[in-house]
Amino acid sequence: MSESNLPRLRLALPKGRLTERTLDFLRGVGLPIEAEITRSRRLLHDISAATVEPLGCRLEVLLIKNTDVPVYVEHGVADIGVVGTDALYEADVEVYRPWTFPYGSCDIALAAPAGVDAGTLRRRPWLRVATKYKRYARDHFAGRGVSAEIIPLSGSVELAPTLGLADAILDLVETGQTLRENGLEVVEVVGRTEVKLIANRALSTPAAEAVERLILRLSGAAEGR
Ligand code: PRP
Repeated sequence: MSESNLPRLRLALPKGRLTERTLDFLRGVGLPIEAEITRSRRLLHDISAATVEPLGCRLEVLLIKNTDVPVYVEHGVADIGVVGTDALYEADVEVYRPWTFPYGSCDIALAAPAGVDAGTLRRRPWLRVATKYKRYARDHFAGRGVSAEIIPLSGSVELAPTLGLADAILDLVETGQTLRENGLEVVEVVGRTEVKLIANRALSTPAAEAVERLILRLSGAAEGR
């Protein structure tokens, strides 16, 4: 089969916390995605030359905001993507989640200025919580019967309690460094996020077979860690 007849797989990768670890992991399974893609202003990268052999397909890589990865995959503009379950929950999309990466898992926590405990927060008649995870926060507090005003932000949420925009934040905590540097501490861990490979629900058979080959490689690399 000539290269141009091979199926094309378009992979959406998230910018941010997971970018470097994901690129390293993919390089480890024989997909030598150049570091250049994180520096370039180009958003779509054809790396077919390096991927026809291991995957039996031409691979294109899309580097986009993590919250957009589920949207691109649900609409089939990207066939597969890498994304945290935090962003996946917010996007509320219909996609397959065939594999979990062995890194990037971290706590989802309620955090407040150092010294403020859970009891103090609970006694507030109306809790203001700043977060990037509006849907998760709404469902979490509703499930506990807590009246909370969710203040949706798109980043730098740690500033909100310091500047009086919110009493607390609901955010991802991995090393805890961002909280510490902003005078906050965990009040309660309320969940866990992990990193998923997601796939469009209507892949062609050749594309689905290429994804299966990719997952076999990913699993092999995860076992060898
Ligand atoms: C997450 C989270 C915190 C930080 C926590 O942000 O929102 O800000 O990581 O990590 P730490 O506990 O190791 O300090 P992310 O880097 O995903 O970026 P974003 O704010 O751009 O979404």
